[in-house]
Amino acid sequence: MIVFDSKEQLRAEIKALKVKNKRIGFVPTMGALHNGHLSLVEAGFKKTDVIVVSVFVNPTQFDNTEDLKKYPRTLEQDIILLETVSKNIIVYAPTVEDIYSNNVVSESFSFDGLEYEMEGKFRDGHFNGVGTIVKSLLEIVTPEYAFFGEKDFQQLQIIKKLVEKHKIPVKIIGCKIHRETNGLAMSSRNIRLTKEHKIEAPFIYKILKEAKLKFGTKSANKVTEWVTKEFEKNNLLNLEYFIIADTKTLKTVKRKHNKNTYRAFIAVYAGKIRLIDNIALN
Ligand code: PAF
Repeated sequence: MIVFDSKEQLRAEIKALKVKNKRIGFVPTMGALHNGHLSLVEAGFKKTDVIVVSVFVNPTQFDNTEDLKKYPRTLEQDIILLETVSKNIIVYAPTVEDIYSNNVVSESFSFDGLEYEMEGKFRDGHFNGVGTIVKSLLEIVTPEYAFFGEKDFQQLQIIKKLVEKHKIPVKIIGCKIHRETNGLAMSSRNIRLTKEHKIEAPFIYKILKEAKLKFGTKSANKVTEWVTKEFEKNNLLNLEYFIIADTKTLKTVKRKHNKNTYRAFIAVYAGKIRLIDNIALN
């Protein structure tokens, strides 16, 4: 497996691969890889010959300096894990300077309002940071396909919008959420959970599944009230938001329409660790 820390070396390698008619897929990550990331890589190999995996903890998408400082960095382990999938993976693990030179700031984007919902309300500047890094990485890697997990469903929609608005020639593929057997959505942050929070965290998916059932017969408001009450009874998990939203606009649902599709989105604090999840409702 080749590991690059410089975009110039990576560009030269990709150029050589394209001359040999190799199709390039891309899985951007912030490292601390788990089976969810590996499933994106596997999805990538169904469509392309070589997968570039970037491992970069992007400073501009963090609104909380402690979260940025404590974000797990496990490059050696990440490489060992990727090697279990294929040798045809290129890891791009750049330094902050390689990406940002000396100017660690975000570009300002408009994502037609998608950026103001949910995560956008609670994480100031987050989607400008995500847009900045994903646009840079797509320009460096120039893949035919890029793969993103649906756990960050809002991010996925925003990246589709970014690519459309900036006419970036890549197909964005959303991949299903990968879960532990107890239902907890896989996340790099899970390794920072305390033992008792780890035991309690599957409650999040349990509530999402029950909310989905209730949404069959009840209004979005009623379901939201029920979820809020369930979390009030839970001493270990603090609900930040639960929202039932239209899948396309990500706007909170006021009244259900049969022709629209909806999803429930949730953000929860388990101690200091923030976990997000979502579920398709219809
Ligand atoms: O989803 C993530 O891990 C990050 O937001 C991404 C897409 C790698 C950009 O830093």
